[in-house]
Order: sequence, then C-alpha cells, then structure tokens
Amino acid sequence: MIRNAIAVMTSGGDSPGMNAAARAVVRTALYEGVKVYGIYNGYKGMLADDIQELNSRSVSDLIQRGGTFLGTARCKEFKTVEGRRKGLENLNKRGIEGLVIIGGDGSLTGGSMLSREGGIPIVGLPGTIDNDVWGTDYTIGCDTAANTAVDAINKLRDTASAHRRIMIVEVMGHTSGWLALVSGIASGAEYILVPEVKYNLDKMCDEISQSYKMGRRYTIIVVAEGACSGVGLKNVVQEKTGIDTRVSILGHIQRGGSPTVEDRMKASMLGERAALAILSGASDVVFGFDEGKVVSINLFDSVYNKKTLDPELIRLSTVLV
Ligand code: F6P
Repeated sequence: MIRNAIAVMTSGGDSPGMNAAARAVVRTALYEGVKVYGIYNGYKGMLADDIQELNSRSVSDLIQRGGTFLGTARCKEFKTVEGRRKGLENLNKRGIEGLVIIGGDGSLTGGSMLSREGGIPIVGLPGTIDNDVWGTDYTIGCDTAANTAVDAINKLRDTASAHRRIMIVEVMGHTSGWLALVSGIASGAEYILVPEVKYNLDKMCDEISQSYKMGRRYTIIVVAEGACSGVGLKNVVQEKTGIDTRVSILGHIQRGGSPTVEDRMKASMLGERAALAILSGASDVVFGFDEGKVVSINLFDSVYNKKTLDPELIRLSTVLV
C-alpha cells in the first residue's frame, strides 16, 4: 500500500483529455489522503528535477482545456540507463512511491524500463490521439482529434465541390491509420489510405477519372501520414487524372482543442482507476477501455505488442466509401 506520495506526468505527443486524466489522478490521491507531485515536461522534467507538489487547486479550471498543464517533451537522455537513474533519484528524494504516466507507446515503453530498472511501481494511461496502444480500443484524445479532423474535412468538402476538385486530406497517426479510417468513414470520404492496408494508386485514379466522366463533382481522399505524404499523393493523382487537385495537411490542429465529453469522461475514469491502483500497490499495468468498460492491461504486453486496425472498421470502409 502507498501511504506517502505518488507522482503524475504527461509524456510524448500531447492530446486533449490529458488534463482531465491528470486532474482525476490528483484529486483521487488527495481524496485518499496521499500527497501528489506533478512532474513537469515529461521525462525531461523528471531528469531536471522539475517536480512540484500539487493540491486540489492545481488542477482547477483544467478539464475543459486541451494540451497538458504539466507540459511534455521528448527526451533522448531518458533512453540511457544513466538518465533513468537520475530521474529515479529525483523521485526517491521526495519519497515518491509510485508513478502514473499518461502518454503514448513510447512514453509507456519508458515507464516499463523505469519499472524494471528502478523497481518503482508504474501505472500507465494511454494518452495519444493515434489510438495505437495495444490492449485498449480507446486512447485519451483520440475522440477529440477525430472530431477535429471530421470538422476540417466537412469544410474542405465545401470548397472541393465548388471547384469540382479532388481534395487530399492528410491526417496524423504516426504509423497508425485509425484516425484516417475513422475520420474518413465519419466524413464520407471517397477514398481512405492507411499504412495497414495495401492500395492501388492506378486503380484509384482510373476510378476517379471514370466517376468525373459520369458527373461526379468532387472527390475527398483521406490519407494517413504513415501511408504516404499528402503532397506526394497530390502530385501523382493530379498527373494521372488531369483533374485539379489540392492537398490539406491538418497537422497539429488535431492535437488541440477542448476535449469532447467522451474524452473528458473516459480520461477521468482512467485517471481515478490509475490512482487507486497505484495506491493499492499495483504496478506494470495500463488502464484502457474494451467495449466501453475499463480494463487493465499488462504494461509489458502493451508496449511489446503492436495494435492493429479493427478489421470491422476496415470492412465497413470498403462497403461505405
Ligand atoms: O503520436 C501523436 C502524434 O501526433 C502523431 O500522430 C504525429 O505523427 C506525432 O505525434 C507528431 O509528433 P511531434 O508533435 O513531435 O511533431
């Protein structure tokens, strides 16, 4: 059982809902009478000793805000044993007995190394817009990012139809096609290109050319950044079809924004579970969702397995687009 203090940090790419999750971790621990420290700027702050005690007011006025009040940063030094040892020293000198890490695949991998080398209990929460963490069908921020992408595609549809253009929309996802697949289906895109599914450019361009001859006014192609570059695709499609083509790279707009109700609720539920678990002495677990219920996943399983796209979503996209 932990009775003295825990710490919470956010790491890797930020995502809308990280604040809600951190707020739930802090308030749950304080409710249980345990001190909570915030580690600022991810592993970089852990190594730089940028660690402050938090109180209930530290997480006021946050649930509605995107980003992360704790900050986050990529940290090369943490990849070394020496760097991780320095981080552990900074935790130990405050009597921190457990750590909640809110982040994506890379951040959770760092946590698994910290746990193995330092013996400090680690509980992870999947915080990334990519929804590419194994063992959970939800990651904090993915719903807000999908809504942001769909809103952008709706707007691009207007101008594409006005000009009878092909509009290519590149979405984030690092190496996962989830954001492209979901935003493509939800926005009624005509084509969705993801890294996990082979596609035939010549066939796609022939189909588009034929459809324009049959009177189609415009085409929306959603492409995951891990499948191919939107700019490169634009040049190929324009060349092969001879149709006026434009590209819009949504980029980091997908990482911002006020979290949706789903992200706020699920992040709060995960944050509370993570705090209670770490206080009860659990370690090396990640909490996520499976068919709407909170589930706990072994941390090492989660980082060593690659999340695949839901075949049901892939099947649906082939039927509807
Ligand atoms: O992992 C989240 C993510 O937004 C990816 O979708 C994207 O490829 C990457 O982060 C961008 O990283 P950075 O913010 O460091 O440019």
